Amino acid sequence: MELALSALTTLLANLRFNLVEMANAVTQRVIWGLMFVLRCFIIPVTRLRKFTERKQCPPIRNKILLLSATEIATRIRKKELTSEEVVAAYIDRCKEVNPVVNAIVQTRFDDALEEARKVDFSLEANGKNKEELSRETPLLGIPVTVKESIAVRGLSHCAGTQKETPRTAKEDAEVVKRIREAGGIPILVSNTPEMCMCWESYNKVTGTTWNPYDTKRTAGGSSGGEAALLGSGASVLSLSSDIGGSARLPAMFCGVFGHKPTPGWVSTVGHMPNCDDISWTMFFSIGPMVRYAVDLPLLLNVMSDHPLAAVQLNKKVALKDMKFFYMEDDCGSGATDAVDREIKSGIRRLVKHLETAHGIKAIKAELTDMKFAFEIATTILLGIDGADSIFMKDSNPYEWKSVFVEVLRYVSLLSPHTFPNIAYGVLKRIAEKIPRAHYEKMVEKNASLKKQFEDLLGDNGVLIYPTFVSAAHYPYEIYHKVCNVSYMMIFNSLGLPVTQCPMGLNRNGLPIGLQVVANPNNDHLSITLAREIEKAFGGWREPVNNEKMV
Ligand SMILES: *[C@@H]1O[C@H](CO)[C@@H](O)[C@H](O)[C@H]1NC(C)=O
Ligand SMILES: *[C@@H]1O[C@H](CO)[C@@H](O)[C@H](O)[C@H]1NC(C)=O
Repeated sequence: MELALSALTTLLANLRFNLVEMANAVTQRVIWGLMFVLRCFIIPVTRLRKFTERKQCPPIRNKILLLSATEIATRIRKKELTSEEVVAAYIDRCKEVNPVVNAIVQTRFDDALEEARKVDFSLEANGKNKEELSRETPLLGIPVTVKESIAVRGLSHCAGTQKETPRTAKEDAEVVKRIREAGGIPILVSNTPEMCMCWESYNKVTGTTWNPYDTKRTAGGSSGGEAALLGSGASVLSLSSDIGGSARLPAMFCGVFGHKPTPGWVSTVGHMPNCDDISWTMFFSIGPMVRYAVDLPLLLNVMSDHPLAAVQLNKKVALKDMKFFYMEDDCGSGATDAVDREIKSGIRRLVKHLETAHGIKAIKAELTDMKFAFEIATTILLGIDGADSIFMKDSNPYEWKSVFVEVLRYVSLLSPHTFPNIAYGVLKRIAEKIPRAHYEKMVEKNASLKKQFEDLLGDNGVLIYPTFVSAAHYPYEIYHKVCNVSYMMIFNSLGLPVTQCPMGLNRNGLPIGLQVVANPNNDHLSITLAREIEKAFGGWREPVNNEKMV
C-alpha cells in the first residue's frame, strides 16, 4: 500500500514537473514563432527608414559643454564661471539638437535661467567658502535634465501617455527635491515610451526620439530622451530610471554612462509608473546617466537618501585590490542570439587592458545559470501585481480593465495606446495561466543565481558582461530582439547594481558598451572600473558626421 502510494506521488510529482517543462517548451516555441512572424513584418518596415534623410547634430562650439559637471561645479564655486553662462549654454544646445533628435517633452528654460541668476547673486552676496559650498550644495548652479516619468513641479508628468488634459506635476519627486536642495537646476523633462513600457522611445504625444549618432536609428528606451540629450552634448547630468535596462540600453545606444543603483538607495516616490509590490522595489530603480564617469558618484550621492550610499561612494578603491570576472555571452540560453562580435571584442579589449596596464588577470566566469536569465526575469516581472498601467481602473488599481476590449480597440485602430502596453496586458494574462510551480522554480533559480553572484564577487569583485547583443537598431526592431534584453533585466531581478560603460564606436560609427556588475551596496566598485574604462578608452565622444562609414 505504502509502496503504491509513494509510487503514485512520485508519478504525480513527475507528471506535474513534466507539465511545467512542457509548458516551458511550449511557451518557448510560441515565443520563437512570434519572433519569427514579427521579424518578417518588422524588418521590411524598419529598413524603409534607411532611405530617409539622415540629419546631423551641429558640432559643439561652446567649450563649456565639454566640461564634466564636477569641473563646472568647481568653477562656479570659484566664480570662474557663472551658473547663468552654463545654463544658457545648455539651453542653446537643447534648442539646437532637439529638431534633430526629438527628445524634449517640456522645458522650463526661463525659470531655470532665473534660478541660475539667483545662484550667481547668492555667490556674490554670502561669504560661504568653497568647502562649505561643496559639502552643502555640491550641484550648485548645474543644469539637470529629467526623464518625464519623474515628477518635476510644473512640468508634464504623463510618461508619454495621451490624455485629454495632460497631467502636470504638482510636486517634485523625492529625488528631484534632493537635486534642488543640492543646488541643481532642472531645465526640462524628456521623452519616454508610453508608461516607460519599451526599450525604444516613441509615443503618441511626442513621437520618436532619434539617435544622435544616426538619426535613422532609435535612441533606445525607456530613458531615450535623456540618452539622446546626453549623447548630443545637450545635457551633462540626467535623472533616469531602470526596470529592465531602461537606463542602460539607451545609454549604450547613445554612448554614455548609465547606472542602475542598488535597490533602495534612491527613493522612487514621484515616479510613474510605480508600485508597492516587493518584487517591484527590487526590480525598479531611479538612477543617474552621465557623459563623464567622474560625475557618477557626485550625482548618485546627491540622489541617494540611504546612509550607506555616501559611505560607500566616498571609498577610494585601487584596481589592484579588486577582482575582475567576465562573460562574453549568457552561456547559450537559446533565447538570445549571438552577441555581436564588436561587442565581444569590447570586452576582450578591456580584459587585455587590465592585464597590460595593471597586471591584473580577469577571470572568465562560469555562471551557467545565466542561461535562465530570460525566463527568471520575465517570470518574476510578469508576476508583479498592482504596477501602474493603462489597464488600471481609477477606482481600484488592483482591478483591471478588460484586456480583450483593449486588444479589440487596438486592432481596430481606435486605441490611444501603443503596442507594448497592449502586449503587456496580454502577456500578463498568459502568465496567470502558467502553473504556479513554474514561478516557484524561477524564484528558486533567482535565489541560487543570487547566491552564485555573492560567492563569486564578494565585496571586491565585479563582472564584465555585454549590455546588449548589438548597437542601436532601426525603430521597432526591439520587438524581434526582445528576448535579448535579458542581458540587462536579470540584474533587475537579482537586485544588483550595474554600470553601463561606453567602449567607443563600431564600424558604423555607432556606440557600443558593456555592463559592470557588483554585489549590492558595492556601486563604488562598478563606478571605479567605469572611470578606468573612460580613461583608457575615451568614454563619451561627440557624434560627428559619419555618413560615409555606413
Ligand atoms: C536577439 O537579437 C538578435 C539580433 O542581434 C536577433 O536576430 C534575435 O532574433 C534576437 N533573439 C531573440 C530570441 O529575440
Ligand atoms: C530574486 O532575488 C533577489 C535577490 O536575492 C531578491 O531580493 C528577490 O526578492 C528575488 N525575487 C523573487 C521574486 O523572489
